[in-house]
Formats: sequence, structure tokens, C-alpha cells
Amino acid sequence: MPSLESLLEQLDTRRLPRHVGIIMDGNGRWAESRGFARIVGHREGSRSVRAVTRFSRKLGIQALTLYAFSSQNWQRPAEEVAGLMALLREYLVSERDEIMDNGIRLNALGDLDKLPRMVREPLDALMGESRNNTDMVLSLALSYGGRDEILRACRAMIADGVSPDAVSEELFSQYLFTAGLPPLDLVIRTSGELRISNFMLWQNAYAELHFTDILWPDFREEAFVRALLDFQSRERRCGKTSSQLRQEAETA
Ligand code: FPP
Repeated sequence: MPSLESLLEQLDTRRLPRHVGIIMDGNGRWAESRGFARIVGHREGSRSVRAVTRFSRKLGIQALTLYAFSSQNWQRPAEEVAGLMALLREYLVSERDEIMDNGIRLNALGDLDKLPRMVREPLDALMGESRNNTDMVLSLALSYGGRDEILRACRAMIADGVSPDAVSEELFSQYLFTAGLPPLDLVIRTSGELRISNFMLWQNAYAELHFTDILWPDFREEAFVRALLDFQSRERRCGKTSSQLRQEAETA
């Protein structure tokens, strides 16, 4: 197995994705396969959150968006939901210094009004405190659903009286939770599932997708660099031809 150092040598830090989204999956299976309660997998998964966030910041990735709790996750057993909310609170409290010391702006996407006060309060506090940080944006998708995000944008545009002729992709993007963030370049999903699961449906239009069998609690720096190398191996044509891209690169 190549070491982290040798993987990093292969990475072109001038061609990093601007915005990486991660569907963090497999915490439950990680725990169950070891005979532990599912929450143990979520706790270990929050260590991967720390590791990947810190490493993204170190590499210079501008935006990282983590799918931490979907709108469908409310249907899980009450005990698991309560455990996840407690972990989120713990994370928001314990990561405050790391986020502030590293110039990270904390952001959240989703139906935040559904979150319990024990999460909402430290979330609002840290988002407020970090709002002027500019080195990286860390977005937590919480009580988030991509279809719900699109419907909210439609409702808000109608409420604003936007005329049908004025509706453009640019304007629509400004009504999404991700307004102002760089375009989503790479989406990673762990645990071998090959689905998008309602994650950033609009933003996924031109994202590269990286699927790995690694379960989220085992996803650390090496696995992340492999995903970045996979991204760098792709030709991102966005509808153009390969020769057009070569010409653009030559004249750049
Ligand atoms: C999916 O795994 C994961 C989740 C529903 C929660 C993700 C939460 C964390 C990584 C920890 C807390 C987050 C932060 C930001 C500190 P799963 O439970 O569906 O796994 P399974 O498919 O193996 O059951």
C-alpha cells in the first residue's frame, strides 16, 4: 500500500476540487460488524469528520460540505437520533477552537428549524462567530434534502415576485442553501452504495463522483487523497470536446 507521503507526491495541488461534498455512509455497519451499538460507529465517524476537515484545510480546499443528517434520518429509532444530536452538539462545542484557529467559516444547509435547541444554539453561535473567516467554508448538511432545497428555492422566488422570464440558472442558484459557495466539483460516497440519496441534486449537475467501499469511520487522509487523485484523473469536459479543452489549456 503506498504511504500517504507517496500519494501526496502524486497530487497536483494546483488542480484541487474547489468544493468537495461527502456522503458519509457506513457508520452503522462499521459498528455492527464489531458487535457495537450503531452510535459507536457515528462517534468514530465524527473522528473522520475532524481528520478530513483538518486535512482539507491543510491542502487548501475552499469548500467542504458534509452530509451529516438527512431529512429522512428523522425516521431512525429515537435513540439513534438522540445519540446523533448529542454527537453534533459535542462536535460543535469541541471543534470551536480548531475552526476559529484555522480560519474556517462554519455554514449549515437544511431545515435547521427542526434541530433541537441543544444543537441549534451552538450551531448558530459558531456560525456567527466564524462568519468572517475566509480560509475554508465547512458546511454541515443537517436535516437536509436536495428536493426540499429546490422546492424552498421555488417558493422563495415566487414569494419575491420573480417574473418567469427572469428565472435563470444563476438566479436559481442564489436561492439555494449553497449560494455564494464555489461550484461542487467532487462528491465522495463511502460504504459501497452507488446513490446520491437526495444530496445536492442541483449542484451535482457537473460534479465528478467518487465511490469507495471504505466505511466512513475508516475514511481518513489516505482515502481522501485517493479520491482527489481519482478526481484529477478525470477529464472534465462539461459538454465540450477533448480537443476544445486542449486548446483552452494551451491558450491559458
Ligand atoms: C450514515 O451512516 C451516517 C449518518 C446518518 C450520520 C453521519 C454522522 C456522523 C459522521 C457523525 C456526526 C457528524 C458530525 C458532523 C460530527 P449509516 O448510519 O447510515 O450507516 P449504515 O448504512 O452502515 O447503517
